Amino acid sequence: MGRPGFTFPPMFFFLGLFWFLPPASVQRTNTIGTCQTETLGREFITSYMDDCGNSSQFEVQIAGYFAFTSVSVSISNYTGDGGRFEEKIMVNRGEMVRVSLPESVGIKGVIKFSKVVLVKADKDISVVSVSNKDVNPETTVLYPVSCLGNEHYIVTPPTESLDSYPEFSVMTYEDRNLVTVHVKGKLRYGTRVYSTGDTLKIILLAFQGYRLQGIANVSGTRIVSEKPVAVLVGQVCFCTSTKCNHVFEQLLPVCSWGTTYIIPPLPWQKVDEIVYITASQSTTVLYQLGEQAETVTLAGGSVLQRPVKPSIPVYISANVGIQVVFYSVGAAIPNSSHAFLMNVPDVASYCRMYSINAQEGFENFALMVANTAETGAIILDNQPVRDVVWNRVPGTELVWSMHMLAPAIRSHAVEHPSSPFALLSVGTAAMDSYGIPGSCREDVTFKCQTETLEIKEQMEMCKDVFLQGSTSEFCSFVNSTLVNLETMCAQDRAVSLQEVAGPFGSFLNSFTLSAGGNENKREIASTMTFLLQSVELAALTAALMSPEITTQTVTTESMAIKTLLVVPAAGPCDEVFRLRAQEETMDIHCDTITRAATEDSVAVAFISYSTLDSIIDKRFLNEGDLMADEKLRNFHLNSRVVSGAVGAGRLMNLSKPVNFTLRHRQAKKEEEEALCVHWKFIAGKGTWTPDGCTALYTNSTHTICSCNHLSSFALLMGLSPEWR
Ligand SMILES: *[C@@H]1O[C@H](CO)[C@@H](O)[C@H](O)[C@H]1NC(C)=O
Ligand SMILES: *[C@@H]1O[C@H](CO)[C@@H](O)[C@H](O)[C@H]1NC(C)=O
Ligand SMILES: *[C@@H]1O[C@H](CO)[C@@H](O)[C@H](O)[C@H]1NC(C)=O
Repeated sequence: MGRPGFTFPPMFFFLGLFWFLPPASVQRTNTIGTCQTETLGREFITSYMDDCGNSSQFEVQIAGYFAFTSVSVSISNYTGDGGRFEEKIMVNRGEMVRVSLPESVGIKGVIKFSKVVLVKADKDISVVSVSNKDVNPETTVLYPVSCLGNEHYIVTPPTESLDSYPEFSVMTYEDRNLVTVHVKGKLRYGTRVYSTGDTLKIILLAFQGYRLQGIANVSGTRIVSEKPVAVLVGQVCFCTSTKCNHVFEQLLPVCSWGTTYIIPPLPWQKVDEIVYITASQSTTVLYQLGEQAETVTLAGGSVLQRPVKPSIPVYISANVGIQVVFYSVGAAIPNSSHAFLMNVPDVASYCRMYSINAQEGFENFALMVANTAETGAIILDNQPVRDVVWNRVPGTELVWSMHMLAPAIRSHAVEHPSSPFALLSVGTAAMDSYGIPGSCREDVTFKCQTETLEIKEQMEMCKDVFLQGSTSEFCSFVNSTLVNLETMCAQDRAVSLQEVAGPFGSFLNSFTLSAGGNENKREIASTMTFLLQSVELAALTAALMSPEITTQTVTTESMAIKTLLVVPAAGPCDEVFRLRAQEETMDIHCDTITRAATEDSVAVAFISYSTLDSIIDKRFLNEGDLMADEKLRNFHLNSRVVSGAVGAGRLMNLSKPVNFTLRHRQAKKEEEEALCVHWKFIAGKGTWTPDGCTALYTNSTHTICSCNHLSSFALLMGLSPEWR
């Protein structure tokens, strides 16, 4: 699928290859299916080709993009006598969860099978399949059922030794699928041998598949099916061999093949690797290794094999769609088990945001290909990617580089604000290596932040609650709030503050009723912390979603929200902005706002809650601090609870303090002391604490508090000990 904004290298003219089609119009040779190379989806099927016996381990790695995504991994008939496997998990946004599959899911022999693994989720996920033979794990990205196609060309490394064979398996999701194999080379199915020119027809029922084994090279074998199928290719490896390379990969259907490909060299590469280029029709291919260019005309069904040399990038271009599969034959020690097989993504499928999983026990790298002018803006885990060397890809205007990933973190986000680029996730370990294209998550990018550390904590807790099949009022509230936030952020549609405030208000009302007799302080504290923070995020989001409106106000029974959009000035600014909600105000300096600027405009939100001070009341005074306890013994809350937030969330250590004017609930008596406090939530405990806030001024009706950070605030009032 073409993504906008990508400048294509105008190299054809230098080579005089005027007959090449402009690559912006990637030609599709097959119109069945959607033919998009997506990696995000809700349903995936796969299987595991295996001959190894005891030492095989199989797993799926599931990456989540939304809160509380329910995933089921099931195999309808994995024992052959109707035995069913199912595991249910829940995965949150930014998380990766591994699910181990029973060893008997491995398919032995050249047979029809029904051990198809189905991964099904209620929101978009991406899935990486791992097959771990002996010490030799191999991975493939799975393409969702919606991206499967009806025509495939097999490409696998040919036989290298007596105990390794090319193999492939074909699986169907839909029922009664007639699959025709047009054989090239020589292969085995059941007890028969088929050779070039033979065709083999098999009808598959839903979630069935079959596995074929090559006797000689079977690359170029064509598979045509009435309904879409998933095709895995690879190489068999028996456990007895230490020199055998067990590899596998899910192929892309012909309809999603592209015309332009870049292969950056592997970071650890010492020997020549291989690229296989497959044509489905008469095709002219340009293959450029460094400065050396070569054009080749391929007949339909033929597979071109070319070297990929250490440190030299490869550029491949064709007049119609081609399949490009990279085969790493193994690096440091020749003939050791280091190999992997990987689809190379075509330039038209490059995207702006990826997630990749670092694999345990490996040195993990992000290999990137980008437009020369855009490299500076690539962000890894919210930090600019620095200290990387970008190298030219001869023949194009693109550059490539590699970045080693921190070993501790398992899931990484890599993104560019506007320009598509390529991201390959590769890694090496003592006896192994892997390579997988990054999962594009462009379609689920949120324009706004939907989490804070505290919210993440609550999500983890509720995930456990949901997984046990139970629920609580709080967790359903967390779920519906996050679903609303995510919808709001993903849809990129203007939402009114009214819509934001509504659900919180109804929850607050019902909670106020039940919290009266509720002595569970921890639960109240965590619920209210979640509420305070999610209202802030939602209000900021609503403000950012309506860039044409400078200020918005909403007043409901339970809260008043005021928002302001500020476009940061170029130079220093002196202005002070005043936001009013109910009878409270917040004064914030424009320096504070622009320091939070990451985008064109910054949102500021001020919220005043009508009833919250009767829920998080004096029961939540400084716990554990005896000095403070003594002082605060007779203090009570004497104002509404207010929250202030800017841009990306809660700013700490402001250069210029923020001033809040809070209206007293009851007139302050002369001898009473007013104490400005903020709401602090740590390790499941919530307290009101005076850290970072001072009372600037107080009279009988109002107190002005000055605070060096933004969060939620209130006033405590009572007799100081000297008056008691
Ligand atoms: C979360 O809320 C959504 C939308 O209201 C609902 O469909 C889903 O089942 C809920 N999830 C859980 C785990 O309760
Ligand atoms: C807060 O009040 C102090 C004292 O009056 C003042 O110096 C400061 O500028 C005020 N800050 C803002 C942001 O208005
Ligand atoms: C108390 O101070 C506030 C804020 O400065 C002011 O608006 C209000 O009029 C004062 N009230 C009295 C009784 O002086």
